[in-house]
Amino acid sequence: MSNKETMGKTLTVALLLCIVCSIVVAGSVVALKPIQQKNKALNLKANILSAAGLLESGSNAEKIEADFAAIQPRLVDLETGEYVDPSVVGKTAALDYDQRKAAKDPELSEAIDGSEDIANIKRRVRYAKVYVVEQEGQLETIILPVSGYGLWSTLHGFLALEGDANTIVGLGFYEHAETPGLGGEVDNPNWKAIWPGKKVYDLDASDTPKIEVVKGAVDRSRTDAQYLVDGLSGATLTSRGITNLVQYWAGEHGFQQYLNRLRSGV
Ligand SMILES: Cc1cc2nc3c(=O)[nH]c(=O)nc-3n(C[C@H](O)[C@H](O)[C@H](O)COP(=O)(O)O)c2cc1C
Repeated sequence: MSNKETMGKTLTVALLLCIVCSIVVAGSVVALKPIQQKNKALNLKANILSAAGLLESGSNAEKIEADFAAIQPRLVDLETGEYVDPSVVGKTAALDYDQRKAAKDPELSEAIDGSEDIANIKRRVRYAKVYVVEQEGQLETIILPVSGYGLWSTLHGFLALEGDANTIVGLGFYEHAETPGLGGEVDNPNWKAIWPGKKVYDLDASDTPKIEVVKGAVDRSRTDAQYLVDGLSGATLTSRGITNLVQYWAGEHGFQQYLNRLRSGV
């Protein structure tokens, strides 16, 4: 056998192998995409339930779907604080609206002025997707999407409030890239357990958010302790990011109008 022939055969085999591998990889990507999307949607639902204190430990996919059925997604016009029909964003159901995608769409969002952008999110959506839980016509829980920059990344999560639109039920993040053991402690159940019962606003004084993550531990004897959350140790910058994002979304450019409306019952 000549050298030339051997080289040609080697190249042909290598080429065929490349083609077969490409087909397998491309096929897997296409075949797995719907499964990935389904899992992502399920993870989001589990996080919404978790913020609302409705996620039972060990829940499987069916249980999560069944529990999520008690939660109604609604669209809110952030300027007016009113509910709007999903048709304003070209959807038939509020659940289908992708708020994070809308934040990149110039038709559905606008750039935030630097001084107002305390959460460092760059763009403000006109419409936000909230989730509400009602019991016999009474508002039980309001779950708000929140996002903002920490030290390394934008954290995306949910802040759940009681029907009084002030008392916190829970805060949790489903996506971030803060350092495990430092800023990543936002996921630590012990730290998350500090949030329930805290108040966002001192409504006797104003409707400007007062909640704050402080440096170190909160002195429980302080009269304003209900607005303060212990900081994450060694992660002051992530902690500050959490304060900023909660204050932004509870503030006048976030859900302030909506929450005021809920409290006044209109
Ligand atoms: C590798 C590395 C990763 C870090 N990750 C975080 C982080 O995720 N969040 C954070 O706030 N600080 C992080 N820090 C620490 C900050 O640089 C800064 O020192 C810290 O936020 C100050 O917090 P302290 O005053 O509580 O110590 C990290 C530092 C290093 C060296």
